[in-house]
Amino acid sequence: MRTHYNADLNINDVGKEVRLCGWCNTYRDHGGVIFIDLRDTSGIIQLVVDPSSQAHKIASSVRDEFVLFAKGSVRARGEGLSNPKLKTGEIEVVLNSLTIENKSLTPPIIISDSSVNEELRLRYRYLDLRNPQNLDIFKLRSKVASITRIFLESQGFLEVETPILSKATPEGARDYLVPSRVHEGEFYALPQSPQLFKQLLMMSGFERYYQIAKCFRDEDLRADRQPEFTQIDVEMSFCDANGVMAIAEGLVREIFKVCGHEICAKIPQMSYHEAMEKYGSDKPDLRFDMSLIEVADLFLESSNDIFKNIAKDTKNNRFKALCVKNGDNFFSRKTLSDLEKFVRSFGAKGLAYIQVKEECINFSQEEIESSLKGPLVKFIAPNNIKELILRVGAKKGDIIFFGGDKKQLVWDYMGRLRLEIASQMGIIDSKQLSFLWVIDFPMFERTDEGIKALHHPFTMPKNLEENDIEDINSIAYDLVLNGVELGGGSIRIHKSDIQARIFELLGISNEEATQKFGFLLEALQYGAPPHGGFAIGFDRLIMLLSGAHSIREVIAFPKTQKASCLLMNAPSSVSKEQLHELHIKINPTK
Ligand code: AMO
Repeated sequence: MRTHYNADLNINDVGKEVRLCGWCNTYRDHGGVIFIDLRDTSGIIQLVVDPSSQAHKIASSVRDEFVLFAKGSVRARGEGLSNPKLKTGEIEVVLNSLTIENKSLTPPIIISDSSVNEELRLRYRYLDLRNPQNLDIFKLRSKVASITRIFLESQGFLEVETPILSKATPEGARDYLVPSRVHEGEFYALPQSPQLFKQLLMMSGFERYYQIAKCFRDEDLRADRQPEFTQIDVEMSFCDANGVMAIAEGLVREIFKVCGHEICAKIPQMSYHEAMEKYGSDKPDLRFDMSLIEVADLFLESSNDIFKNIAKDTKNNRFKALCVKNGDNFFSRKTLSDLEKFVRSFGAKGLAYIQVKEECINFSQEEIESSLKGPLVKFIAPNNIKELILRVGAKKGDIIFFGGDKKQLVWDYMGRLRLEIASQMGIIDSKQLSFLWVIDFPMFERTDEGIKALHHPFTMPKNLEENDIEDINSIAYDLVLNGVELGGGSIRIHKSDIQARIFELLGISNEEATQKFGFLLEALQYGAPPHGGFAIGFDRLIMLLSGAHSIREVIAFPKTQKASCLLMNAPSSVSKEQLHELHIKINPTK
């Protein structure tokens, strides 16, 4: 049908007769001369129809999003009429023939405006995807998938597909279940990841596996989470953690390089412990400094018993200070009160702060006290005030925020406060790429429902002999980019006695372990090689590479925050007959 894609034409093609196809992006009638911006998958080109042209009558009935076939000749635009914003901005095509292949209703969204109501855009996603900016994201996505395959194949990895109709895998979310028609009352689970299959492939002797795999998790959704998402999933045998991390790092480096970004020579590593203590997060954003500083010891002699008691229990509690440079000049009374509301929404009981009004480090004790403002000043023993100022490095114009409580709570809300303040003050360099490996994760975490595996229960422990379960670490690693968890993985348990011990520590009985993972425990007894792997969140990777604000922008047909597809209207009810066949009776809760 066509001789060229729009964007393939340039000034060197002037004089050529061309046939083009596409959609009417915009239409303008300038006193008889009609201009149509024709859009195809490559880009936009300007068509011109003179009043004398045979195509003029048809052109005058063209409207936005009509599908067009156009024939004409390429000419250079007149002096001063080029459009530098368009790749084809130096030329236009003068039409001698035009066919309207299909009409369009007036689009309910402005295609070029991605700021319009997201729900409406998702409802008409096929129109939204016509926006060239969106198309660019999917070109990037396809390119990254291709680089991934080329890189991993070059390293000897084999792409293997694993089942979608499967059994529950313990990645920590709820499962999506699929009822079986043949097996009454039984369900498949959609894989939360191919975790167990990839381990079984190592036991099958494949040694190096990868897959660009679909995963399904029924969990609370956020800007970087979807119920259905994609992972670059990798597993390898006869390797240690460094070997696996080197492959992950090599892959990420290659992807970023091909996309035009050089990343640091060696991605730095930080222990989970350090990340939590300094940044209150296991995925710290290191594009800016501003770390949390422990000050519990300075409250041991406080006149306030609550503070004193928090400070005493250093195993379970934390007392953190966050010194914000120039923060006193930046935050008004109102914004400070908003910050307090912000931390309260994450469980804080309040937000104490001290405003530093003078450059006071060389002052006497009394002078320092009078240079500081804020309700907390009077609760710090006078002899500790100077130490506080020194420790947090506070200068005139700074503000110091405090959080004291149970450690998990303090890490969480002070970590979030750090990010919120940095974002409000605009100190995050959005161009920077800050990669980090977080390593040495605890193997277990205590939750209200008991002991749980922090990664998954197949992760190899580093020091199983520790007496306190909370001191046992796992050989696990997470890859963080700009405060987003991009991927993670671990060395797996390949010996059944260690696996049995982990199940025991997790309170999983032999019967339950056999019922849920009997196949894996069995396979471990037939010569399982040492192995480990990782998975990178493919959608998150594309989100960060493309600068998209949400993972929904980089998925062709994403779900809303409530896990619905507005385009197809899924999930939806099904017929009584279908339910009957599946042996299901709906018992409405409302
Ligand atoms: P994990 O659960 O850490 O590990 O997942 C790996 C990466 O997948 C991405 N991810 C998500 N992306 C979008 N929406 C979600 N709901 C979602 N959940 C996770 C993240 C995350 O870092 N089987 C292990 C990997 C392994 O041990 O090899 C696993 O799935 O970027």
